[in-house]
Amino acid sequence: MASPCGNVPAMSFDETVDRSALPASRWNPAALKEHFKTTDVLPLWIAEMDFRAPPPVVDRLVERARLGMYGYEYRPESLFDVITAWFGERHGWPIERSYLRFCPSVMNAICALMNLYTEPGDAILVQPPVFFEFRQAIGRNERELVKNALRFAGGRYQMDFEDLEAKASQPQTKMLILCNPHNPVGRVWTRDELRRVAEICAHHDVFVVSDEIYADIIYGDNRYTPFVQVAQTAGASAASCLSPAKTFNLAGMMDAVVVLPEEDQRKRFRELASRFFWNRTNVFTTLAAETAYREGGAWLDELLLYLSGNIAFIDDFLARETPGVELVQPEGTYLAWLDFRGLGLDVEALGELLSQRARVALNSGHWFGREGAGFARMSFACPRSVLEDALTRIAGAIAG
Ligand SMILES: Cc1ncc(COP(=O)(O)O)c(C=O)c1O
Repeated sequence: MASPCGNVPAMSFDETVDRSALPASRWNPAALKEHFKTTDVLPLWIAEMDFRAPPPVVDRLVERARLGMYGYEYRPESLFDVITAWFGERHGWPIERSYLRFCPSVMNAICALMNLYTEPGDAILVQPPVFFEFRQAIGRNERELVKNALRFAGGRYQMDFEDLEAKASQPQTKMLILCNPHNPVGRVWTRDELRRVAEICAHHDVFVVSDEIYADIIYGDNRYTPFVQVAQTAGASAASCLSPAKTFNLAGMMDAVVVLPEEDQRKRFRELASRFFWNRTNVFTTLAAETAYREGGAWLDELLLYLSGNIAFIDDFLARETPGVELVQPEGTYLAWLDFRGLGLDVEALGELLSQRARVALNSGHWFGREGAGFARMSFACPRSVLEDALTRIAGAIAG
């Protein structure tokens, strides 16, 4: 793939980049020892890509770094322009630019909204198996976690609306944290599903925080639906949290966008942001996000093709080499939710098989709630050779 700026070498998604000199979390020896009891593992656990960010982003950052001027900056109008253009053109979502607020990360945004719209002791709904930091955020902010578990039938996860209605109707329930698209099960919730969630939450006055960090990583005919759109129609209070982090592999840059359709929400968020001086920006983060949203579209299209190829590769490999292990078909995200239940192992034995015998670091399914027991999550945003290595290790461990 050619770099439009011509400065950064073209990168094929098959290329591997040596990160051994970096303090990359994925290879952090202390974290690997803590979770997998060894550092001798192929780490596909943390949700990020092995690929370099889009070439124009790298080019601009290099130019900017060379300039040597890193003083205070504000978020320019052009940043708002590219964000609204991206979501308008790519997802048919004409975001009103005045709805946008910024904060350092999606988890910051979720915790900020939790503090604005709930009190300690209030109940907050999540839909496990789901991204484990939701549970941590609820616990650390002294709220109560209530589960509206997803149902798994016929190889596909579905929401349980009756259970959602029952739990949302409890007076202590004040918020739902939605994962749209869903990490780890890979569902891209349909407009109809989200409309039902919005109607239930509107009826019971439950604020919905929709984590849409995977909005751009969508396959086939699936379509991302911004939750605030359906919320507005249903009369529900909601915020959508967006970020370029997953789309363009910028997680270490840190920045998130919160879409708040109601004036009162924006006022409250502004007050909270000013309490914490969130008007600060990071010059590299802002530049990377603006460049990525302006010039990263073609790169993302190529990436999605490569990732679709990786999904087909996993499917094919598992069918040939590892009976008893199945991939839950991802409609979005670059996370493979692998069903190991056919092996009949308990959580500990499966963990031992993967980390000690196969020597791969995958997130054990029960991290995402006990509903995930028997599954494991593997990032497949990596060169196919790395994927093949991981799957070969797993197949060898099962066979051995
Ligand atoms: C669903 C989801 N939300 C949020 C995050 C973290 O986002 P941030 O680093 O912007 O807090 C992740 C990271 O893996 C994620 O998967």
